[in-house]
Amino acid sequence: FLADKGNYRHFMLKEINEQSEVVGRTFSHYVDFASGRVNLPVELPFKFQNLKRLSIVACGTAYYAGLVGKYWFEKIARLPVEIDIASEFRYREMPLEEGEAALFVSQSGETADTLASLRYCKAQKQHIISVVNVATSTIARESDVVIPTLAGPEIGVASTKAFTCQLSVLLCLAIAAGRARGTLSEDEEKSLVDSIISTPGLISETLKCEQDVEKLARDIAKSRDVLYLGRGTSYPLALEGALKLKELSYIHAEGYAAGELKHGPIALIDETLPVVVIAPSDSAYEKTVSNMQEVAARGGRIILLTDQTGSQASGLDNISSVVVPDCASVIAPIVYAIPIQLLAYHTAVLMGKDADQPRNLAKSVTVE
Ligand code: G6P
Repeated sequence: FLADKGNYRHFMLKEINEQSEVVGRTFSHYVDFASGRVNLPVELPFKFQNLKRLSIVACGTAYYAGLVGKYWFEKIARLPVEIDIASEFRYREMPLEEGEAALFVSQSGETADTLASLRYCKAQKQHIISVVNVATSTIARESDVVIPTLAGPEIGVASTKAFTCQLSVLLCLAIAAGRARGTLSEDEEKSLVDSIISTPGLISETLKCEQDVEKLARDIAKSRDVLYLGRGTSYPLALEGALKLKELSYIHAEGYAAGELKHGPIALIDETLPVVVIAPSDSAYEKTVSNMQEVAARGGRIILLTDQTGSQASGLDNISSVVVPDCASVIAPIVYAIPIQLLAYHTAVLMGKDADQPRNLAKSVTVE
């Protein structure tokens, strides 16, 4: 394999632009488009209907994918999920009942803490299922079953296309779990699959926001701190947005659940602090708008990532927005990953930072 940037300035930008294709490829591996049903090509060593709970363990961006997965498993399949970062989980001595399942998410399949957590779960007689991008990796080899992401090799140190492919796989698993547990009717499954089918096209549409995002990046590049807010599945996206920005631009950034604003971060709001709000026009939208009003009332600078419906309904003046296409709320985390990746990328490039090789970071962390 020879890495090739093609016409792109960085691997990261190339990988951001590949997402329509690789997400489409990953979904088509797990979805039978003709029947409108999810169809896992592998046999699981357990039955979703027999699980009392699922543990998800990962690091970094893969952990945030897992956190979105938790919302999906709980809502779609009514399956309670415990999620933890691997470096905590591995030493926490969490009691696990024999025969439950543990799911590991990892691009490289080599992250030391994630692997150690897997081995702990194995010793506790858990069924081991992993969502990995490198099929020959140690985590893949030591799992009972591997549900691969088909993102292709990811070269940029900060994960982009692996993240959206992890989300794609987790959504399919949540749907499969919902069907097995009887929490999802055939019609509901078909409608979720329709949303899945629309995703690659929506990603291509969303990529057209790049110029708007680049303009906003000029503002972000001058900031010392940035706050990201989101509710529901946009909360893990806020965490991921903040992680991407600090990894690439070295600007201090924090992601918060929008409802937690009043419990601390509101003290930081002034005219110097950009607040990136991830808010598709879903059932949480109005609540997030009231959080934006709280920010605006204190002179905070809002950058709103929303859809066409949301941008008309915000009722706020003097805010900057990036408008993405309207989409079903279930796939919003995949669509909104695009502007948050582009925002971090362009901020880093404007600041003269190396977007592919940020300082002090490694693509695969095989030491503790
Ligand atoms: C490193 C990378 C991140 C990645 C994390 C977990 O910190 O820089 O992009 O999310 O490791 O890696 P994994 O290979 O387990 O997904």
